[in-house]
Amino acid sequence: MDSFLIKGGTPLHGDVTISGAKNAVLPIMAATLLTAETCVIRRVPNLSDVQFMCQILTSLGAEVKFEEGTLTVRAAKIKGVGDYDLIRKMRGSICILGPLLGRLRKATISLPGGCIIGARPIDLHLKGVAALGAKIKIEGGYVHVDAKKLRGADLFLGGRAGPTVLGTANVIMAAVLADGVTIIESAACEPEVIDLIHFLNAMGAKISGGGSPTVTITGVKSLHGAEHEVIPDRIEAATFAIAAAATNGEVTLHGARADHMHAILDKLREAGVKIERNGPALKFSRNGRLKPVDITTLPYAGFPTDVQAQMMVLMALTPGISIITERIFESRFMHVSELARLGADIAIEGPSAIVKGGKPLSGAPVMASDLRASAALVIAGLAAKGSTEVNRVYHIDRGYENIDGKLRKLGARIQRQEGS
Ligand code: EPZ
Repeated sequence: MDSFLIKGGTPLHGDVTISGAKNAVLPIMAATLLTAETCVIRRVPNLSDVQFMCQILTSLGAEVKFEEGTLTVRAAKIKGVGDYDLIRKMRGSICILGPLLGRLRKATISLPGGCIIGARPIDLHLKGVAALGAKIKIEGGYVHVDAKKLRGADLFLGGRAGPTVLGTANVIMAAVLADGVTIIESAACEPEVIDLIHFLNAMGAKISGGGSPTVTITGVKSLHGAEHEVIPDRIEAATFAIAAAATNGEVTLHGARADHMHAILDKLREAGVKIERNGPALKFSRNGRLKPVDITTLPYAGFPTDVQAQMMVLMALTPGISIITERIFESRFMHVSELARLGADIAIEGPSAIVKGGKPLSGAPVMASDLRASAALVIAGLAAKGSTEVNRVYHIDRGYENIDGKLRKLGARIQRQEGS
């Protein structure tokens, strides 16, 4: 398994281009199953999650070509059974459920199972497709859904932690070819859901209300091929912005969408980060001393849970007490114990982490546990004195395109060590 060897203490300086959004491209790739015609998707990041999804689409019978950031998919003839192991490996693949049901009126996929940040149930996904007329059977680790007919319905999709992003995507993709009108209340409002809706409407779907809690889908007979450019990754953008502040550097992001990042930019300003607009580019640096802030993660447009770990590193470097409360997932503090190995002083009290910041961090070997926690450990290594080895960086490669190459271009001393 590969690891990163990081020599900390060098402020990051320069320009970085933000890649396409992982959490937009995965459901959009799944949506190509809804038509037999060719779809062309651009600004596709070269991530292991994208490679997995290409394998899943291929295993379902689609022709898939991925070159230089452009993905071409033609799902002319497909089957409704997904590859058990592939789907188990990547939770995000649950989003093939809706399009398979929409196109074939049936689907059999392995239960995605939980991961290190939480149980990751799919009860809301199943509630949604059942409301459209699907029969559901869970057997031997698989979920089987099938529907003689799919009929539009009014349904409420909110769960104990608010809306579900991929649950909303799945229900929309099952409803686009249903008979009649579907109204989803408490739909997820994330930019990635809006991007999926833009792609589906380009394919001939009739969807309105994207980005609002009420999404209306009027079923159509069929969808045709379409071309689409994926939105930039707001979480990658936030990660690089925080790395700039954490290393007391100055980094300009190209291609990021400030209008997708209001909560992030607001908190960074409050924490003492200077944000300058240079046309569409955004430049991040420190604005004097860093200040402690309190953060609660919320559904969009609140502060995103996918930036919680990275922010915690910045707060560990900030003199004072910061409180970070995680309201979306039940165990998304795996990075705390690893940050403690670098000298961070963080206490967990239920859903909150109390960060006593300001102590200098010093390098040590640490273990990546999940995608965003791993990114946080890289930021911590860049800011720490001495050397940090981040192990199991396959977690990072799932969601960041060439992160070590991009960081080296900004002056970071980071080397990838090929693992055994
Ligand atoms: C998406 O996951 C993202 N992944 C996650 O990003 C992100 O953290 C999450 O949305 C929240 O924004 C992709 O888009 C591929 P949810 P998703 O359904 O859709 C509960 C990353 O690092 N819930 O919005 O799976 C669930 O347990 C990843 O890029 C139910 O109770 O998340 C959680 O507490 C991590 N029942 C909350 O809702 C359900 O049926 C939000 O989960 C579904 C979800």
